[in-house]
Amino acid sequence: MKSKFLQIILVVTLVFNYSCNESVSEKEIFISDLMSKMTLDEKVGQMNQYNGFWDATGPLPKKGYEKGRYDDLRNGLVGSMLNVTGVKNVSALQKIAVEETRLGIPLIFGFDVIHGYKTISPIPLAESASWDIKAIEKSARIAAEEAAAAGLNWTFAPMVDIYRDARWGRVMEGAGEDTYLGSVIATARVNGFQGENLSDFSTIAACAKHFAAYGFPEAGRDYNTADINKYTLYNNVLPPFKAALDAGVSTFMNAFNTLNEVPATGSKFLQRDILKGDWGFEGFVVSDWGSIGEMIPHGYAKDGVHAAELAANAGSDMDMESSLYVRELQGLVKDGKVDISVIDDAVKRILGVKYDLGLFEDPYKYCDLEREKTVIGSKENNLAALDMAKKSIVLLKNESSLLPIKKNGQKITLIGHLANDNNSPLGNWRGAGESNSAVTVLEGLENYGKNSITYKKGVDLYYGETNFHNRVKLNHTDKTGFKEAKLAAKSADIVVMVLGEEGFQSGEGRSRTELGLPGLQQELLEEVYKINKNIVLVLMNGRPLNLTWADENIPAILETWHLGTQSGNAIAQVLYGDYNPSGKLTMSFPRNVGQVPLYYNYKKTGRPGASSAEVTKSTYADVENSPLYPFGYGLSYTNFTYSELSLSSKEITRDDTIVVSVKITNTGKVKGKEVAQMYIRDHYGSLARPVKELKGFELLELNPGETKEVSFEIDNSKLVYYTANDRWESETGKFSVFIGGDSDVKDNKSFDLIN
Ligand code: GLC
Repeated sequence: MKSKFLQIILVVTLVFNYSCNESVSEKEIFISDLMSKMTLDEKVGQMNQYNGFWDATGPLPKKGYEKGRYDDLRNGLVGSMLNVTGVKNVSALQKIAVEETRLGIPLIFGFDVIHGYKTISPIPLAESASWDIKAIEKSARIAAEEAAAAGLNWTFAPMVDIYRDARWGRVMEGAGEDTYLGSVIATARVNGFQGENLSDFSTIAACAKHFAAYGFPEAGRDYNTADINKYTLYNNVLPPFKAALDAGVSTFMNAFNTLNEVPATGSKFLQRDILKGDWGFEGFVVSDWGSIGEMIPHGYAKDGVHAAELAANAGSDMDMESSLYVRELQGLVKDGKVDISVIDDAVKRILGVKYDLGLFEDPYKYCDLEREKTVIGSKENNLAALDMAKKSIVLLKNESSLLPIKKNGQKITLIGHLANDNNSPLGNWRGAGESNSAVTVLEGLENYGKNSITYKKGVDLYYGETNFHNRVKLNHTDKTGFKEAKLAAKSADIVVMVLGEEGFQSGEGRSRTELGLPGLQQELLEEVYKINKNIVLVLMNGRPLNLTWADENIPAILETWHLGTQSGNAIAQVLYGDYNPSGKLTMSFPRNVGQVPLYYNYKKTGRPGASSAEVTKSTYADVENSPLYPFGYGLSYTNFTYSELSLSSKEITRDDTIVVSVKITNTGKVKGKEVAQMYIRDHYGSLARPVKELKGFELLELNPGETKEVSFEIDNSKLVYYTANDRWESETGKFSVFIGGDSDVKDNKSFDLIN
C-alpha cells in the first residue's frame, strides 16, 4: 500500500516539476526523485547483492552470517538477492524490503536459469547443436515463464562466452566456438527471457555473461588467466555480447578472469570504455560471485577497500557476494576515492532495471501462488523440452544403417550406468530442477518400443550424489559388473551402450586434463565390443570427448549431451527413428586432448599442413591436424547432396549485394532436416585471416527425393571485420564462398571486392 501511495505522489510531483521538459521520461523523473531522497547508505545498499542463505553457487561467508544480513535488509543495505526460489521465500524477503525499510525499494531476485527452471531443457551447448533458433528462443521463454512463476525476475543467462577448449568445463553452458552462431543464439536467448515487455509478469531480465574472455582460460583451467590479443577480443569474443546488448539485454555480468593481466571486474576498458562508452549500455553490470574481493588474490588489489574502489570506478555496478561495497563504499566516497557520481550512475542503472520490470508498480507481481502451481512443470513445457531435446541430438556415425532400431522383435541389451541414471541428464546448472527427475534411456526405450530389453549397468561410473560444490567420485577399480554385461551382450541383436560424463562432470569448476570416457567406461566398451560388434554408442556428456577409438570401431554413435528432463524419451525417439536426427556440432571434437584449443576458423599459418607426414609444415608428428568431427558436422538417417553452387557476380563493391545459391537434394528414403551452412573466406587482409568463417545458415526439411534451392545474400556487412586499422571495415581483395553441411566443405566460388 505504502509503495503504491509513494509511487503516485512521486509521479505527480515529478511530472509537475518537469512538465516543461517533455523529453524527460516518467522513468527518469521517478528515478531521479527517488534518488534525491536516498542517503548514501541506501544508495550503496542498492549496489549490494546477497545470496539467499542457501543453495550457494560460490564460496559462502562463515557460519552465522545470516543475522547480520537480515539487519542489512531492514536497513535498506541490500538491493538484490540471488538463489532465493519460490513465491513463499521471495515474498517473505520482498516484504522486508518494501514494508520495513525507509524508502520501500523492492529487491530484484536473480537465479541461474541457464537451461530451464524446473522443467529442464538440454544444456545450452546441446540446444545450440539444434541450430533451430526459434526452438532455442522458445526454450528460454519457457524457462522465463517458470522462473517468473516462482517469484524470480532476473536470470544470470545467457552465457555468451566463445571458447575453443573442451578441457574447460563451462563449454556446456554456451553456444559453441563460433562467433556468428553465438551472436544469433545470444539474441534468441535474450528475446526468450525478456520477451516483448519486460514489465510483464512472465518475463525476466536477462544477463549477458561473462564479460569478457572467460572462455579463453589458459590450459582450459577454470578461472585461469586469459591472454588474447585485441583482434581476437574484437573479432571473436565481443560480438555475441554486442548482439545481446542490441537485443536489449538488461544486465551484464563481468568475469572471474584477468584479461591481459587486468581482472575483468576491475577493467575500465571493458566496462566503461567498451560496454558503457562505445556501446552505450544503460543497464547495470553485476560482478560475478565474489569477484571484487578476488582482485586481491589476483594480485591487483591491495586489500578489500582497494578492491571496492577499483571495481566501482571500473564500472562494476553491483557486488555479488563479496560484501565489500556495503562495507567500504561509504568511506571511499567520504575519502574522495570514489566520486558520488560513480555511485549515482550505478544506482540509477540498477533502479532503472527494477523500474523496467515493474517492481515499483507492484513489488509482488511475481508472487502468485496459483500461477506457481499451474505454470511450473506443465505438460506443454515438458513437450517443448522433449522437442528441444530431440533436435539437439547429433548422429556422428551410422555404419550400414545400424540405426534406427526396429521397434519390436529385437533383443536389445542396454549397458551403462548412465542408461538408467535419472539425474545426470539434467546436467550442471540445472536451476531448480529436482534431482532424479529425468526420464532415463531405459524408460524411454520401454515407452516407445516393444523390444525385449535386458539392462546391465556394466560398471559404476560414479558413486553417491553430486551437486554444484562437490567433485564426482569416479570408479577406477571395480569391474565386477563387466562379466554380467558381456554375458548379456552375447546374445543381443543390438547392444546400446550409454556412456559419458556424470551430470556434474562439466560446468563451473569442472576442468579436465583428459577428454576420454571417464572411469572404466572405455575399457567396458572395448570388452563388450569383443563379444558383440553390433553396438550403438549413446554419449551423454557436457563437452567434446576423445572418441577416436569408438569412431574406428563402433558402427553407430549418437551424441546426446545432457538433454534435461525428457532425455530418455528424446533418445529413444531418435534410436527408434520416430525422429530423424538433425543436430550439427557447434564445437569441434578433437582426435585427442593434445589438439586443443581446436576450432574450425583457424589461421592457415605460413606453412599450412594437414598430415603428420608433412614434417616442415604446421603439423603434429602423431596425429593429423583435423578434428575427429568438425564444427557444423552431423549425420541424418537420410542423405543430402549439394550441387550447382553459383554466385550472381564475380565482383562486388561495398554498396552491392550478391547472391550465392546452391541446390540441396534429399537422396535418401526418409524425410530429414539439414542445416545448410554458408562460410566466407577472406583471402588476405591487414590481419592474417581465418580459413573460413560462418556467415549464414538455413535449417530446412526435405522429403525423400526433394530438391530445394538455398540462397544467401552477401553484402558488405558479411565482409567486415575489426582490422589492423582498429576499425570495423571490409578490405578489398579476393573472397571465397562455401555452402555445405559442415565446416569441412571444400566446394566454393570466388569473387573480388573491388572497392
Ligand atoms: C557463479 C558463476 C556465474 C553465476 C554466479 C551466480 O560463480 O560464475 O555464472 O551466474 O556465480 O550463481
